[in-house]
Amino acid sequence: MNGSILAALEGVYKNYAMGDAEVRALDGVSFAIGAGEFVSIMGPSGSGKSTCMNLIGCLDHPSSGAVFINGIDTSRMKAGELARLRNRTVGFVFQQYHLIAGMTVLENVMLPLRYRGLPPRRRRELAVAVLDRVGLSDRLKHRPRELSGGQKQRTAIARALVASPALILADEPTGALDSETGKSVIDLFAEINSRGTAVIIVTHDPEIGKRARRRITLRDGKITGDTAADTAAAAGEAADTADAAAGIEQARASRFVFGGESFV
Ligand SMILES: Nc1ncnc2c1ncn2[C@@H]1O[C@H](COP(=O)(O)OP(=O)(O)OP(=O)(O)O)[C@@H](O)[C@H]1O
Ligand SMILES: [Mg+2]
Repeated sequence: MNGSILAALEGVYKNYAMGDAEVRALDGVSFAIGAGEFVSIMGPSGSGKSTCMNLIGCLDHPSSGAVFINGIDTSRMKAGELARLRNRTVGFVFQQYHLIAGMTVLENVMLPLRYRGLPPRRRRELAVAVLDRVGLSDRLKHRPRELSGGQKQRTAIARALVASPALILADEPTGALDSETGKSVIDLFAEINSRGTAVIIVTHDPEIGKRARRRITLRDGKITGDTAADTAAAAGEAADTADAAAGIEQARASRFVFGGESFV
């Protein structure tokens, strides 16, 4: 961490109304993420991990408390400003990829640049370069259904990276992959982080959690741990298994990002 704070939650509560009842998904959560950090968020199902990610990524608002991005209180920003900030600062990766079925790999990755006012040729160059970085140069014209799970996730990572965000948010990015493929995806995140991009990964897998330099643990909407992970493990290249868990928040979140187009 180099001192500058990219994102921070301060005293955040998030309640969801469920008919007459209310679910408290986050119960007074505070933490800050510095530039270049590599953080895992762990905790049982329902503990509030995805809710946390959606708030950091400004896909949702807290019921109370504040979310800061680059030191700016996001509750004070207009919707358009917030969308621009999100597009420039944060890249999202979801368990179920959320690629657009009717577009090729290249078109999916070019999509976030659509809002940047770049000429098409420049968008294409940037997307080709980032697809090369994730090892997909030979799949540019494939559609998502013609890819393996690992290739879909690499496409999604390329899409998250293409606009050079300062922070990548990945919610169980290996949850739908076999353990070997999951490991290579985590290696890719580690490589991305080593070049200066902050990465936050939600995972159920302790081995993946160990790869991050800092681990935040949630339980019942509260932080129960926020520690430097075992640095030997974080520095080493050892991580293996991945697991599967469903996420309902991701689909909702993706509608904010991509405006309700169809996903696979
Ligand atoms: N849109 C919603 N409406 C109502 N309740 C919700 C909503 N989203 C999440 N919740 C509830 O908030 C709590 C936290 O959910 P969240 O999705 O953040 O958990 P999680 O830690 O990501 O779990 P998992 O590991 O299963 O993905 C859960 O009890 C969940 O049922
Ligand atoms: Mg979740």
